[in-house]
Amino acid sequence: MSKLAIFGGNKAVREGAIKAWPPIDDIDREMVMASLNGGQHTFGPNCKEFQSEFAEWNGNKYAITTNSGTAALHMCLVACGIGVGDHVLVTSYSWSSSATCILHHNAIPVFVDIDFATINMDVNKIEAAITPRTKAIVAVHLHGLAVDMDKVTAIAKKHNLKVVEDACQAHGALFKGRKTGTMGDCAAFSFNQNKCLCSGEGGMFVTNNESMRDAAAQLWSFGETSTPLESRDYHAYALGWMYRNNDLTAAFGRAQLSKIDSYFNIQRKNGALLNQLLRGIKGLILPYEPEGHTHNWYNYTLRIDMDAIGWQGDPATMRNAIMKVLRAEGVPAGVWQSFILPDMTVFKAKNAYGGGCPWSCNSAGDGVVYDPALFPAANRHCSTHFGMTTPLRAPNDSKAVEMVAEGFHKVFDNIEQIDPEK
Ligand SMILES: Cc1ncc(COP(=O)(O)O)c(C=O)c1O
Repeated sequence: MSKLAIFGGNKAVREGAIKAWPPIDDIDREMVMASLNGGQHTFGPNCKEFQSEFAEWNGNKYAITTNSGTAALHMCLVACGIGVGDHVLVTSYSWSSSATCILHHNAIPVFVDIDFATINMDVNKIEAAITPRTKAIVAVHLHGLAVDMDKVTAIAKKHNLKVVEDACQAHGALFKGRKTGTMGDCAAFSFNQNKCLCSGEGGMFVTNNESMRDAAAQLWSFGETSTPLESRDYHAYALGWMYRNNDLTAAFGRAQLSKIDSYFNIQRKNGALLNQLLRGIKGLILPYEPEGHTHNWYNYTLRIDMDAIGWQGDPATMRNAIMKVLRAEGVPAGVWQSFILPDMTVFKAKNAYGGGCPWSCNSAGDGVVYDPALFPAANRHCSTHFGMTTPLRAPNDSKAVEMVAEGFHKVFDNIEQIDPEK
């Protein structure tokens, strides 16, 4: 068993042992078919029910179902009253749209380095990034670990800033017992295939504030003031988009929502087991769950400690070589984002809407610098990380996790055999 699979040994994780996400059963089939056989496939009864069921599950007063998490993020920015030339603080390592949603409304992202331990925005670096134009903070609960929202909301209060939660990866995750999406002014969730609540694609905007809800709803549906369930006059009162969800997708989302708590329990159990089985492996930095936080293990993210394994070359080259050997063992490891946000062309080249806008409008972008070197913790994370999603998700149980852990032990026991040059 100890011969590495990449050199012809047996795989630690046998073919087909890890089951695909999400589990589909008769609840999903019946609800989606009922929608298909019903008469309303656009924004219909399942959309309305999905909104109220999600709001109740998460603990929000209002929810609006959207066709993506990115749409819900854009709605958050508008709900917060963000406009041309405003500065919005956001982490330097996330999905692109955690920051491009700011550009969508002609505002300017200002990046904050991450805390290497949590991979979230370093809350101790937020205040230094505030400018006279700063209006809001986008707190991204990355990989299912909540940001320290006590610190974020205290800073926001002191500087009169709004707080948007990007909870696209953080369904069910807790901070001091509070669910993500309930601690800021408003929040966005994603229901894309890979997320902990999945409906293929889709999203949800949530808030407790009625006027924020109304502003978001206007953007969501063509700039109109009436929703599709009310009597519409089809008049665009403001610039609007078409971010509505459809009935079939919402039916699938409702079916999955009815099972989310059982999924969450499985993820928690599998995450705890994997932590226990990988503890002590030299060269592996395990994910961190600070006290008071409950991770949802959306993405179980590890880093390689290059010093511990005695590697002095390019870290990403070694990380990629190790990952190749792990994958040969059947461990479904992958690199999530391989660029930090300030290193993405849309920001570095400030190309967004073209012609320098929004940075050039009224000199709003003066002093905003997107030099990737200013974010050392994000860079270190970016070149040393890899992660997994499916082995921790339902319907996988301890057997899948044990096989994955065995793959890790095999690879790290034989680390001297890995030659990144080959
Ligand atoms: C942190 C984060 N924010 C926003 C999004 C955007 O969600 P969607 O793909 O539903 O637009 C994602 C999706 O991957 C994400 O991971």
